[in-house]
Amino acid sequence: MNVHQLQRALNGLVDRVDTPAPIVVRDVMQRNIDRMQAFAVEHGLGLRPHVKTHKCVEIGRLQVEAGAVGVTAGNVGEAEVFAAAGFDDIFLAYPVWPSGTKGKRIRRLAKTARLRVGVDNIAAIDALADAMGDEPDRLQVVVEVDCGARRSGAPPEAAGGLATAARKRGLVPAGVYTYPGHGCFGPDSREPAAQDQEGALTTAVRSLADVGVTAEVVSAGSTPTVAFATGSVITEIRPGEYVFCDLDNTRIGACDEDQIALFVAATVVSDWVPDQVILDVGTKALGREGSPEKGYGGIAGHNAVLAKLNEYHGFLALPGGESRPRVGSVIPVAPNHVCPVVNSFEELIVTDRSGTSVERWPVAARGLLS
Ligand SMILES: Cc1ncc(COP(=O)(O)O)c(C=O)c1O
Repeated sequence: MNVHQLQRALNGLVDRVDTPAPIVVRDVMQRNIDRMQAFAVEHGLGLRPHVKTHKCVEIGRLQVEAGAVGVTAGNVGEAEVFAAAGFDDIFLAYPVWPSGTKGKRIRRLAKTARLRVGVDNIAAIDALADAMGDEPDRLQVVVEVDCGARRSGAPPEAAGGLATAARKRGLVPAGVYTYPGHGCFGPDSREPAAQDQEGALTTAVRSLADVGVTAEVVSAGSTPTVAFATGSVITEIRPGEYVFCDLDNTRIGACDEDQIALFVAATVVSDWVPDQVILDVGTKALGREGSPEKGYGGIAGHNAVLAKLNEYHGFLALPGGESRPRVGSVIPVAPNHVCPVVNSFEELIVTDRSGTSVERWPVAARGLLS
């Protein structure tokens, strides 16, 4: 979608939407969903989108209708929201520690959905088995291994030992997963991170086989690396951001600008300072994703970026020739990183290219962190 179409959609919405507001252009999003699904089918992979990006049941349904095998959640609360909405195949791709009420909630969830949870250490395996009481076999665990992101995840060669420990406690070891978080640093980091991912998963699958466990699922990330996650060991992919795309993903070549499906509609509220106008979007709406070098969000189709954010103010720098929007005009801000933006709002405004149709879809898992 070009910038003129986008501005037309916004103009069509102005009287019906209070800014700042997250505007989702439906057909652009649907094309993103369909494109990723076609990629998965072409490579014989299951697609299990990460719902932390949209936290929205309606969008999860579109992904499943397109052919996704299930969804990925980032915490128990997200899993609960989607399970309550009827999603029956959920992977909680996080090394959960079942403290507080989480153990009980996981046990409850495992009764209503096929639930898989991540594990990367024996203490958590024991705690999850304890939480499952006399029905540990209802819970499938997937061993998280590290492939170079140096975040969570056991060394790949330790996967078999963890699967054995899970099996001993009556849990069902279903396979292995990893997250190639080091694939988002730049255009040249995507493919090497995907290669690291494939190597780590291959080692982990072998480690499971060595202890007599077949990896039913071998699960890989992520929007920046997914194009290279096609090795034969991988059975499923878990991209999240692809559904909306964002500027960070365009900068590293993981999507094109015309695939960005979510913009924050913002109003120019003040323009006294030369070479700058103030928009009504700040950190409360956009989060803090950015840097002085790349800015904190861009204006679709222009070089202009938000040079600074306060909580409710966005400083839109307009150096030299950039045209200066009038006070009162509404303009589309493209986020650097879309996930925190969605989590700032109660609902998504879903529209078409002309801004004629408007639906409001709740961000049902908004704010759920545990
Ligand atoms: C474990 C895990 N899987 C999948 C993803 C999805 O990655 P992306 O949002 O880059 O597509 C993430 C993102 O943080 C993640 O942490």
